[in-house]
Amino acid sequence: MENELILGDNLEIMRKLPSESIDLIYLDPPFFSNRNYEVIWGDEGEIRSFKDRWSGGIEHYIGWLKERVQEMHRLLKPTGSIFLHCDWHADAYIRVYILDKIFGEKNFRNEIIWHYKSFHGNVKTYFAKKHDTIFFYTKSNKWTFHRLFDDDNEGTIDFERWNPYLVDGTKILGSNMPMQDSRFTRFYRRWVKENKRLPKPDDIVYEVVGQALDTVWDIKPVDPKSGDRIGYPTQKPEKLMEKILNSVTNEGDLILDPFVGGGTTVAVADKLKRQWIGIDQSVQAVKVTEMRLYNQRDLFSSPFTVKLHKYDYDTLRYKDAFDFETWIVEQHGGTPNSKQRGDLGIDGRTREGLPIQVKRSDNIGRNVIDNFRSACERFDANLFERNKKAGQPIGVLIAFTFGKGAIEEVARLKIQQGITIKLLQVEEIVPIAKKPKISVTVKDLGVDEKGHREIEFTAIGESDSGIEMYSWDWDYKETNGFKPEILLDKEGVQVRRLKPDAYIIAVRVFDNQGLESTEVIRLKVNGKIKRL
Ligand SMILES: C[S@@+](CC[C@H](N)C(=O)[O-])C[C@H]1O[C@@H](n2cnc3c(N)ncnc32)[C@H](O)[C@@H]1O
Repeated sequence: MENELILGDNLEIMRKLPSESIDLIYLDPPFFSNRNYEVIWGDEGEIRSFKDRWSGGIEHYIGWLKERVQEMHRLLKPTGSIFLHCDWHADAYIRVYILDKIFGEKNFRNEIIWHYKSFHGNVKTYFAKKHDTIFFYTKSNKWTFHRLFDDDNEGTIDFERWNPYLVDGTKILGSNMPMQDSRFTRFYRRWVKENKRLPKPDDIVYEVVGQALDTVWDIKPVDPKSGDRIGYPTQKPEKLMEKILNSVTNEGDLILDPFVGGGTTVAVADKLKRQWIGIDQSVQAVKVTEMRLYNQRDLFSSPFTVKLHKYDYDTLRYKDAFDFETWIVEQHGGTPNSKQRGDLGIDGRTREGLPIQVKRSDNIGRNVIDNFRSACERFDANLFERNKKAGQPIGVLIAFTFGKGAIEEVARLKIQQGITIKLLQVEEIVPIAKKPKISVTVKDLGVDEKGHREIEFTAIGESDSGIEMYSWDWDYKETNGFKPEILLDKEGVQVRRLKPDAYIIAVRVFDNQGLESTEVIRLKVNGKIKRL
């Protein structure tokens, strides 16, 4: 399965996912908070839905979330776990009315406190609220769990894990040993026998390596000024997600984050070689997550698909051929071939097992139909005969458009040989829309004291659906693809100080449907600026 980033309401999307398929669900839903986090996030529609949704108070919120958690329970494997992230606004209600009800009190495992130090504000009459709560429940009494060790336990002594070694520095046995390890007990007895006395404190040194992680996690929040910050008000630190993923999942496990936001969970899942599905109803969240994943992409990253509501022809046309074939087969609900095309040119199978061929071109002609017909027969002769007899299609051919010759040939095969071939245009599988337009102006604001040019870049996007945001890559290299330093810019205006040199800058605009266009600017900066 390919990793997926999906735009939409998670309730609707989760309903389409198969039962008992997921190892871990982490969710960080919008809090029941008057600070209206979400308002910062989204478009007009979101603001409206936010106000409607919570105007009924806590009952409304609990009802809304419970429906979703119910669906999550169905999706988890019997050995799966859920981590629900919330805070004082609603944690008591969530535990009692949602998690205990759906997962059962007996499957409650932990209440984790994420304690963070940040600016307190002017709190004078009570204590500053500086923690979030994460509830950990399992679906049954069997689950994956790896004991983690606290990496920030300075000053605490706990002989749970140690490196015992002799005073002269020789290692006695392996390091990182659990306290009760029988190898150590054997060693100890041998030492006593050989030395004919009990060891004095200095004879054997116990170096404490760490203690098992407990339920209070001290982790710094994402610093608003740091480079990790991607522009999301509710972005969670990667360290927090690492602890969760490392403790209850293994490499290759499937993780779902139905409120993916700025994409912390899936970015960490990618680094830790877990498979993942991320869902968010905000275009901004999906696109920021997509760009974040591009930025951290390396040789070992797994590919992922982004499911939007609309697509544009140009992007589809210029996708890598194999990526496109795989993607469109999946969008049709089929299973793509895992390898590049075989001799027959079959790219995958439908849910019912029919062969699918994808042609990434327009005006498909007669010969393609004839070749496909024989490919289907050679692919699986029995299936071919069975479908032919039953009057069912023998295969599905997908293309941008079909020419007159192809349509006539399909009709001829049906009438003369009783063979049905199903023709599907790409736009019957995924809705197609026009991508946004973009233009960029560059304005010289003068020279600063260091001799750097101050330059204002203004990107203007145009789209019928409205513009969502812009991202900027200040050092664009075509071979690396678009890797923006600025992921989320609502206005499209940036001021940079550039020293004399040549620059290639790329700016991408995203519209409200998630469609995008990129403009590349080549600049030469010396005495003045010159756009090439
Ligand atoms: C608190 S944020 C998640 C932040 C994320 N954990 C991170 O580290 O960046 C909540 C997210 O839930 C999304 N959301 C709210 N209601 C949703 C729904 N019904 N379906 C999908 N996403 C939703 C919002 O758009 C927002 O991105």
